Amino acid sequence: MTDREIILQTITFVKSELLHAEGGHDWWHIERVLNNARTIAKSEPVDLFVTELGALLHDIADHKFHGGDESAGIEKARAFLLRLPVSEEVISHVVNIMTNISFKGGNYKQQFFSPELAVVQDADRLDAIGAIGIARAFNYGGFRGREMYNPTLKPRFGMTPDEYQQSAAPTVNHFYEKLFLLKERMNTATGKKMAEERHRFMELYLEHFFKEWDGIQEDQAT
Ligand code: ADP
Ligand code: NI
Repeated sequence: MTDREIILQTITFVKSELLHAEGGHDWWHIERVLNNARTIAKSEPVDLFVTELGALLHDIADHKFHGGDESAGIEKARAFLLRLPVSEEVISHVVNIMTNISFKGGNYKQQFFSPELAVVQDADRLDAIGAIGIARAFNYGGFRGREMYNPTLKPRFGMTPDEYQQSAAPTVNHFYEKLFLLKERMNTATGKKMAEERHRFMELYLEHFFKEWDGIQEDQAT
């Protein structure tokens, strides 16, 4: 079996695993992350096979959707890869990518580093910002029944991973608690460049959002 065939089988597996996923964490999120990862990988010294497997499997174990438990998803991915001609070295690298990719509020110490994780993490972060990031944040907020915005609730910084996961804050707060922080956390030069335009677009978006919230018409004579 060629690496290409393994990737195709992984695509089929991930699609079936994510069949009922929330709209921001479904197969299309994975496809976008895979595309971002392929773009970034062009200028990084990575093993493309590991990078693609990491991008494809990175959200199978998402703690947000499994009551904080990642181990079931990790085991599922490992069991899947074990059925294919993939070396133990590649499997453990992919598992390390899955376990260490997450933001978790930004105050969690990442335990593992590799050029492949750096690429997949940037690819995933890019999908959390810009036009797509905005859509995903509001979709997730709606999925959780959150307010879009509440002017009386200020964003919180320095949350622990548990506090971050349990937060029921309005979606606009998530821009300040995570989305605007990502630009400074990009690992690769290509990722940083791609993040800049997406970051600016989110700033412009919120500028309009607040103006509309307050019903302001700027060229109005007073
Ligand atoms: P990670 O999986 O890296 O820990 P998050 O838990 O922050 O990342 O979630 C990934 C995506 O899910 C975010 O980029 C966002 O689109 C959405 N999301 C997560 N938490 C929230 C939230 N509190 N409000 C709005 N969107 C959220
Ligand atoms: Ni993801």
